[in-house]
Amino acid sequence: MKPIKVGLLGIGTVGSGTFNVLKRNQEEITRRAGRSIEIAMVADLNVERARELTHGEVEVVSDANLVVSHPDIDIVIELIGGYGIARELVLKAIANGKHVVTANKALLATHGNEIFKAAQEKGVMVAFEAAVAGGIPIIKALREGLTANRIQWIAGIINGTTNFILSEMRDKGLDFSTVLKQAQELGYAEADPTFDIEGVDAAHKATIMASIAYGIPMQFDKAYVEGITRLEASDIRYAEELGYRIKLLGITKRTPEGIELRVHPTLIPEKRLIANVEGAMNAVLVQGDAVGATLYYGKGAGSEPTASAVIADLVDITRLATADPEHRVPHLAFQPGSISNLPILPM
Ligand code: HSE
Repeated sequence: MKPIKVGLLGIGTVGSGTFNVLKRNQEEITRRAGRSIEIAMVADLNVERARELTHGEVEVVSDANLVVSHPDIDIVIELIGGYGIARELVLKAIANGKHVVTANKALLATHGNEIFKAAQEKGVMVAFEAAVAGGIPIIKALREGLTANRIQWIAGIINGTTNFILSEMRDKGLDFSTVLKQAQELGYAEADPTFDIEGVDAAHKATIMASIAYGIPMQFDKAYVEGITRLEASDIRYAEELGYRIKLLGITKRTPEGIELRVHPTLIPEKRLIANVEGAMNAVLVQGDAVGATLYYGKGAGSEPTASAVIADLVDITRLATADPEHRVPHLAFQPGSISNLPILPM
């Protein structure tokens, strides 16, 4: 069978990780996908860097429109970030009949309803495992592993930057701005770090998880969002004296009246597993009515951990795209027909 052809938009940290892991594990990935996956085109404004990162093996262009409209491309991976150009390109790719893989939580939390509707109408898939908690397969867990359950609540450390900052402030007694600078240097923080420290990035991710867990549209605008900027070293110290750790949690909870969707610093007893998630690591606790509590832990950011999730989506789409559309597992695209009408509660 001929290879499935992929166009990659943006070859920064995650893009280069995706290229390298696909190449390194090509044999296994091909076996698992049932067909070879080939990155056929890359779009990046920095053409020279893109050529270097792809070792001159792939056609590199600076205009991403050429990729999303190229007739040979089957799947577009969007790793540009932000909501402006990324939204246009994703919608254009869908309109041109391409399947889409994206790690862009901001885009999905704010424009996901429009994007999934367009995908549904066109009969293409949009996959986004990498958008929440990086390498942790939390989307798959919610959608597939826990599909028998009524999800009662989810609580997660889903922003590595803020967890790193809180850990370093506690362990080393460093102040907020010093540690934020370190997090930026280590590449954990978003291009605009206010999204991390004000809780916006975690709220994007919680919005996506709530949408899947409860079958509701993306409603980021209704989330309660509070970051860690008002925390001081003394808050962390006092919490510790009382036997607690402070963590920035993304929480969503089903109640009889509706859904809670919130992000805020939370006191957690230090004996709890999740209280001991340190540095830039992520962890997500999911409570289902049948399974009880389950905990997912791993790297929530970084080149190859995030690439691991991107490639999982590529493999899923490759398998499903090869099957008859009538028999595709529909879970990769948001299903407007299956949404519940539970409201997000004001907090
Ligand atoms: N800025 C994000 C974080 C990157 O710190 O978790 C991964 O989404």
